[in-house]
Amino acid sequence: MIYKNISLKKYNTFGLDYKAESMIHIKTEKEATSLFNGAVSWKTPLLILGSGSNILFTSDFKGTILCPELKGIKIEEKEPGKGYIIVSAGAGVNWDDLVGWSVNKGLGGLENLSLIPGKVGATPVQNIGAYGVEVKDLIVRVKTININNGLVRLFENNECEFGYRTSIFKNREKGKYLVTRVYYRLKIRPLLNLNYESLKEEVDNLGKVTLKNVRQGVINIRRSKLPDPELIGNAGSFFKNPVVKKSVAVSLKNEYPDMPTFIDQEGYMKLAAGWLIDRCGWKGKRRGDAGVNDKQALVLVNYGRATGMEIYNLSEEIKKSVLERFGIYLEREVEVVGII
Ligand code: EPU
Repeated sequence: MIYKNISLKKYNTFGLDYKAESMIHIKTEKEATSLFNGAVSWKTPLLILGSGSNILFTSDFKGTILCPELKGIKIEEKEPGKGYIIVSAGAGVNWDDLVGWSVNKGLGGLENLSLIPGKVGATPVQNIGAYGVEVKDLIVRVKTININNGLVRLFENNECEFGYRTSIFKNREKGKYLVTRVYYRLKIRPLLNLNYESLKEEVDNLGKVTLKNVRQGVINIRRSKLPDPELIGNAGSFFKNPVVKKSVAVSLKNEYPDMPTFIDQEGYMKLAAGWLIDRCGWKGKRRGDAGVNDKQALVLVNYGRATGMEIYNLSEEIKKSVLERFGIYLEREVEVVGII
C-alpha cells in the first residue's frame, strides 16, 4: 500500500512536521521482494526509515519513504556446548523490546544497549553502541534484500565493514540493501560488562551484579541524562565522539587536565564531544526552539516549534566554536536529509 503526502511528525524523534510525497510500509519479505523486483513501481529517491531516531529532516521529502515493519523474535540455533544461542529479530522489532526479551530469558550481550531508541533493522547499519558495548560484537549475520533486483543476500559479520557508528550499509553500499532480519549471538551464562565507571556505580547502588540490574542501571543512567523523545524532540547524540591522533589528545590534555580521553585503535584516542561542546558554553543554550540539552551537551533538542534548518544551523554554530576553541572537527552522527 502506497500512502501519499504523509506528515513525518510521528516518523522522526525530533518531531519535525515535514511531509513525504510517498510512504510504503513493508510487513513481510515477500512484500519487499515484489517492491524491488519491479512488480510495484514507486517514486525515487528512496529513504529507508526505522523509527526516525537518528535523522534530521530539513525539508519535505520528494520521494518514497520505506518503513520496514517485519516482526518476530526467533531462537534460531542452540549451541549449549559452546555457551551461545543465536537469536534473530525482524527489522521492524523495537530494539528495546528485543533487549528486554533477551534479559528476561537470561541471555547476555545486549543489556548495555538497553533503551537505545530505534528498531532492529537500524542496529547493524549504525553499529549502535553504549556503555562499552557495540552491537557488532553480537551480530552474526544480517539478512537483506537488494533494492535493485529484489534478491536476498546474507552478510556475515566480517562482510559488514563495521566501524564506530558505521557499516557497509551506511557507507560503501548506502541505500542499496534493505535489512530484513538480524541474527545475534547471545550468551547463556552472561559475562557482564561494567567497564564503564558510572554504570558500575549505578549497578552497585541497585545491589547485586545481575543481568537484570545491569539493564536497570543502564535505563536509570539514560533516563537521568538523556531527554525522552516522547516529551522533548531529540535524536540522542547529535555528533560522534571525535577520534584524534594520540599526540593531539596528549597536548589537549596538558592544557585541559580534566578532559576525558578514551583509548581507541593504536596511535589514536577518542575524545568526548559532549565535554568539548559543554566547555564551549553550549549546555542549556537555545536559539529559538532549537537547543542544547542541559544535562548532556551532545544532544540537540526541539523545544516544540524549531525547524530542521534551525537545528542544523545550531549544529553548525557548535561545530564552528569547537573547531575554534580546540581545533577539533566534529562530525554529525545524525543523518541530515534535505539540504545536502
Ligand atoms: N560530558 C561533559 N558534558 C556533557 C556531556 C558529557 O562533560 O555535556 C563528559 C562526561 O562527564 C563524560 C564524557 O563527557 O566524562 C562522556 O560522556 P557520556 O558518558 O555521557 O557519553 P558520551 O560519550 O557523551 C556516548 C554515546 C552515547 C552513549 C554513551 C554511553 C556517542 C556519540 N555517544 O556518549 O550514545 O549512550 O556514550 O555509552 O558515541 C547515541 O549514540 O545516540 C548515544 C546516546
